[in-house]
Formats: sequence, structure tokens, C-alpha cells
Amino acid sequence: MIELENITKTYGLGAEIYTALHAISFSIKEGEFVAIMGPSGSGKSTLMHILGCLDTPTTGTYHLNGKDVSAMTDNELAQIRGDNIGFVFQAFNLLPRTTVLRNVMLPLVYARVPVHERADRAAQALLSAGLTEEYFGHLSNQISGGQIQRVAIARALVNDPALILADEPTGNLDSKTSLIVLGTLQQLNREYGRTIILITHEPDIAEHAARIIRLKDGTIISDEKNASPRDAAREAALYA
Ligand SMILES: Nc1ncnc2c1ncn2[C@@H]1O[C@H](COP(=O)(O)OP(=O)(O)O)[C@@H](O)[C@H]1O
Ligand SMILES: [Mg+2]
Repeated sequence: MIELENITKTYGLGAEIYTALHAISFSIKEGEFVAIMGPSGSGKSTLMHILGCLDTPTTGTYHLNGKDVSAMTDNELAQIRGDNIGFVFQAFNLLPRTTVLRNVMLPLVYARVPVHERADRAAQALLSAGLTEEYFGHLSNQISGGQIQRVAIARALVNDPALILADEPTGNLDSKTSLIVLGTLQQLNREYGRTIILITHEPDIAEHAARIIRLKDGTIISDEKNASPRDAAREAALYA
């Protein structure tokens, strides 16, 4: 699904050039759950922006589902994102004072889905994520943590993406809520068959993935299978 070959990313110009990524190469197959782990400043977000087609590499090639996306225009990248990628950001980033239904419609705006289709598709995603119609009009700051989780599932699934990218999704969350978020990602992987890339600086979080790629100073220092990923739902239940 993903093939990166000698990806580099530099910022700045002339004497001010800073290399954030050095010759990064790896592949990810459909259905994998991969954590990309590294300390602050190691290049995680830079890599995520490239993987998510939000930015292009300075050199190297990136094939997503067989297509070379490394030199596409912004418009082409927007199309690729809308067709292939679901994003989960810190604490799921639901818009406050905005209804549940509108929060789920948002990715469709970016994916340029026609206006008249958006509400229907968002409603379908919410129903399949287990949230009943009575909540669609609730504001996102007026629902419970469990319901927020379902809205986030719906939002990541609404454009039916094969790939889900999560950048530090548990940042700022307490331990139990972090586990609920991780459990959601594990569920999206196991039950919905989505490929997950989880970006984190915390080893405890990365251990929920089946493969861990470690990044330091813009270089991959290890890329290993995790034979026994931690089960977030089971861990979250211990707090109940
Ligand atoms: N837009 C930018 N311009 C200049 N330097 C940047 C930019 N974005 C990131 N960097 C630098 O690249 C390095 C990697 O940053 P980043 O990818 O955000 O790391 P991480 O997400 O692991 O904390 C850092 O040293 C950061 O200061
Ligand atoms: Mg970052």
C-alpha cells in the first residue's frame, strides 16, 4: 500500500537548510497497524505530512496504492487524500459548538463530496459506528467520552479510507481516555480492516501496534514486529 524510497525533507534555503528527514525507506502493507515512534523533533510530523499527502518530499519517491504521489500538485494530493486517507488528530479534534453530524461531514468537505451527499454519508457512518440518530444534532461538547469516541470512528470512516493516520492522538488525554482512543484504532484495524499508522513519542502507546518503526534525528534506527501488541480495550476495562 505504502512504499517510501529514499525520502528526504529539507526546510529552509541556502545556508539555513535544515534536513528533517534523511533517506527514509520502508513499505507498509494493507491491514498493518504500525507505530512510528521517536522523541520530539525526530521528524514524526514531517513524515506524517508526507504519508498523509499533506506535503511532498524534497527528494525520493512515495507510492501510495501503486501511484507515485511524490510529485503531485496540491489539487491532485487533495483528491488522493479524500479517496484514501482518514486523519485522527490529537484528542480527535472535534469542533466544539458544532453538531455531531457536522463534525462527521467535515472530511467530506475537504474530499469535495457534493453537498447533497454529505449529510447522508455522515449519518450512515455514525450509524455504523454505533451512534443513534437522536445524538446527531447534539453539540460535540455535550456528549459523553464514549460517544465522542463513536463520532471519531465515524469521522475517520466517512470517506471510507483504507489508510488511517493518527498523529499523537492521545496527547493531552488521561490514561483511561488514551486507552479508549487506542482501543478505537485497534478496532478500526481488526474489525474494519483499516491500515493504521500511529505516530507517538511514548513507548507505552507504541506497544499497542503490531510493528514499531523508531525514528531519531530524521533517520530510522529500528523497524521491528511487535509479537504481542497490548490490548487497549482490555486495559481500559481495568479502570472501570
Ligand atoms: N516548517 C518547518 N520549517 C523549518 N523547520 C521545521 C519545519 N517543520 C519542522 N521543522 C523542523 O524539523 C524537525 C522535525 O520536526 P517534526 O517533524 O515536527 O518532529 P516531531 O513531530 O518528531 O516532533 C524539527 O527540528 C523541526 O524544528
Ligand atoms: Mg510532531
